[in-house]
Amino acid sequence: MDLPVIIQGGMGIGVSDWRLAKAVSLLGQLGVVSGTGINTVLIRRLQDGDGQGDVRRAMAHFPDQDYAQNVLQLYFLPQGRSQGKAYKRCSLPTIDAPLSLQRLNALASFVEVFLAKENHAGMIGINFLEKLQTSNLSGIYGAMLAGVDYVLMGAGIPREIPGVLDKFATQTEATIKVSVIGASSPSDIRASFNPPEIFPKASELALKRPKFLAIISSDTLALHLVRKATGSVEGFVIEGATAGGHNAPPRGPLQLSTLGEPIYSINDEPNLAAFRKIGLPFWLAGTFGSPEKIGEALKLGATGVQVGTAFAFCSESGVSSSLRQAVIDKWCDTGSAKPQAVFTDPCASPTGFPFKVAPLAGTLSELSLYEARPRKCDVGYLRQPALLSDGSIVYRCPAEPVADFLKKGGLAEETMNRKCLCNALMSNIGVGQTQDDGYEELPLLTAGDDLTHLKQFLRAGNRSYSAKDVIEHLTT
Ligand SMILES: Cc1cc2nc3c(=O)[nH]c(=O)nc-3n(C[C@H](O)[C@H](O)[C@H](O)COP(=O)(O)O)c2cc1C
Repeated sequence: MDLPVIIQGGMGIGVSDWRLAKAVSLLGQLGVVSGTGINTVLIRRLQDGDGQGDVRRAMAHFPDQDYAQNVLQLYFLPQGRSQGKAYKRCSLPTIDAPLSLQRLNALASFVEVFLAKENHAGMIGINFLEKLQTSNLSGIYGAMLAGVDYVLMGAGIPREIPGVLDKFATQTEATIKVSVIGASSPSDIRASFNPPEIFPKASELALKRPKFLAIISSDTLALHLVRKATGSVEGFVIEGATAGGHNAPPRGPLQLSTLGEPIYSINDEPNLAAFRKIGLPFWLAGTFGSPEKIGEALKLGATGVQVGTAFAFCSESGVSSSLRQAVIDKWCDTGSAKPQAVFTDPCASPTGFPFKVAPLAGTLSELSLYEARPRKCDVGYLRQPALLSDGSIVYRCPAEPVADFLKKGGLAEETMNRKCLCNALMSNIGVGQTQDDGYEELPLLTAGDDLTHLKQFLRAGNRSYSAKDVIEHLTT
């Protein structure tokens, strides 16, 4: 089977949406939608009136039409929200999420994959973050209902996911271990998704088992997955610390540069000889978005590369057009001045992983705007379950109001400089919340070090570029 040379990296929330993934797939490469936070994306698109009718067209193909109608009744606003009104929210993810939330999540990832695959035979993948354990099972199932070709997962050790794909391909219940802070025996606490119980009608359909690619940064983890995963792994995306989004932390104790960024060393370089020995296809990610770097990757034995930053700011990306333009203006119009580098922020992400931030005026990268934001946790994808001494489980996020975090057993120092990525990333794609107190949630852009090289995709005289421009440039 033909493997793609270019994987368009999954970019949450909603940056690599169905439009981008479809455009890439139509050009013969692997388009990847993001499954992160996809249920909120779906209900906000519906509350904004679903202008072109795409979401409703996809929903009309969902195998449980009673449920799809139910969602329309709850969230669809034909005229869109009235100005200044908050979006209606869905419930926040938990280990034992209510049936309604599991269904909504499955429907949302079905819609995204359905639209990305509509009317062509190209390949489509879906990306999830392993850390978001409580949402992943339903998201994977929904994507499989839409015939997704690849599942890609990073930000953790996705040892149990290959087995989940096998289970769902036979429409049987799958469970995964959930990491619970303070639990002595985490393997006892599992999240589950049982298709016949959750979608009785859909569970009678024949489903294809997608290929699984793990996004990792070390050969030790790759070997662990090959030996210990609950099913087959079809390849690896090896992502370095220059990539956009979250980065794996440096090995060993965290040391910061004078600018306050994590210091990576030669020890963090992947051992490609070890990967070649494993013998599975691999793709290199992290500043591989140029023809020269693709050539280099191929010479090193890679099947190809995974590229994110270049696609994040092309016309088909989910990033709102005003932000995309601001990025192109700032990073492509620098004259003879050196473009400003992205900042690898060790604190911004509630996950604790380093997170790349593009410094842009009007976004939470500005300290004053970050400090002016009233802390609030109303989306909740990055909350982590924690076991209290009385045996109860609470969900906490270091970016939530500090008093709430402390009440749930968290430490004050963990809350320092944390940013609410859930709300900010929704704002990046034009579906930011207007809070009840009138506060408009602000964006926060992530991009990799390749942000300073976007100019290579702009054709003379143009102020924007397309996914086709990226792929044509990269493959010539
Ligand atoms: C805006 C943006 C969002 C991203 N979000 C995710 C994500 O949700 N999950 C993920 O596995 N990788 C994410 N990434 C990483 C990309 O999938 C890809 O691996 C990376 O961007 C490749 O490096 P490059 O940025 O140098 O091209 C994101 C990258 C960007 C630029």
